[in-house]
Amino acid sequence: MLEIIPSGKILGATVAGLDLGQPLNDADFGAVRSALGEYGVLRFPKQQLTAQQVATFSARFGKLEINVANAFQVAGLPEVMVLSNMVENGKPIGMSDAGQSWHTDMSYSRTIAFANVLYGIRIPRRNGRTLGNTEFCSMHAAYDGLPGDLKRRLEGKTVLHDFNKFWEMMRREKGSPRPPLTDAQRKAKPPVSHPIFLEHPLTGRKVLYANPGYSMRINELPQTESDEILAFLFEHQTQPAYRYAHVWEEGDLMLWEDIGTIHNAVADYGPDEPRLIQRCQVMASAFGEHFAQ
Ligand code: OGA
Ligand code: MN
Repeated sequence: MLEIIPSGKILGATVAGLDLGQPLNDADFGAVRSALGEYGVLRFPKQQLTAQQVATFSARFGKLEINVANAFQVAGLPEVMVLSNMVENGKPIGMSDAGQSWHTDMSYSRTIAFANVLYGIRIPRRNGRTLGNTEFCSMHAAYDGLPGDLKRRLEGKTVLHDFNKFWEMMRREKGSPRPPLTDAQRKAKPPVSHPIFLEHPLTGRKVLYANPGYSMRINELPQTESDEILAFLFEHQTQPAYRYAHVWEEGDLMLWEDIGTIHNAVADYGPDEPRLIQRCQVMASAFGEHFAQ
C-alpha cells in the first residue's frame, strides 16, 4: 500500500510502500503525480533498481532528455546520466560537479525540464553522517512572498536564460575542471527567454521562474534595473524560510519537479568519499507553449 508522509517542511514528502522496479498502476501513478504537485520533492526510500528501471519509471512522467554532448551515460541507455566523483582505471565514471550551485535544470532550453529523477547508489558518509545533500527552495513560496508592487511590475515580463552562465560560474568560482564551452557548443545552446512567472502545470498556481544559475536579465527592463531586480530575486528566492534539504540514504530514489523548485547539490565531501547517482531529466513538452516553445 502506498503511503505519503509529508516532511512537515516547506517542501518534501516520503512515498513509502512502492517498489519502483514494478510498473506503477494508474491509481498509484495518479497519487504520486498529485503528491509531486503538493510537495514538490518526493523521496522513495529503499529502492533496488537497474538503470533501465530508473528510465522506465522516469518516462511515466514525460519525454526524457538525451544529453548528446555528455559522455557520462549508462552504456546503451543515453537517457540515464551518471553523476559521480568516482574514478575507475584512471577515468572519471560520471559528471563530478553537476548542479553545485542554485539552479533549476534546463531553464536555458526552449523546452524546459518538468522533473528530475535521481537514484542514489553510493552516498558519501563521514563519522556516520551522510554528506552531499541536495537542497531545494519552493518557487511557489517565493512568488507568494514577493512584494505586491514588484509582482505587478514584473507581470508579463520575460527572463533570458543562458547555459553558459552556470558553466562559467563553475569554472570561475568553484575551480571546476570544465573547459570553456566551444563556439559550436555555445551555438547549440543559444540563450532563450521564458516568462518570469509561470502558471504551474500541476498546481495551477503562479511560480517565480528565474534562478541564479542561468537567469541573465529581464528582457523588457533597462540593464541596471534588470541587474538590481535579479539580484533581489536571487536573494529572495534562496532565503532560508523557503529551503528544504534532502539528506540522502543509499537506495533513495528522488523525484522532484523543476518548475516550482530550484535546487543545489552540496559539495561537502572529498574525492575519497564516493558518491554515485543515476539521473533522468523529464521534459515539460506535454504542458503546452510556455513550456515547449
Ligand atoms: C543535477 C543536480 C543534484 C545532486 O544533476 O543537475 O542538480 O544532488 N544534481 O547531485
Ligand atoms: Mn540540477
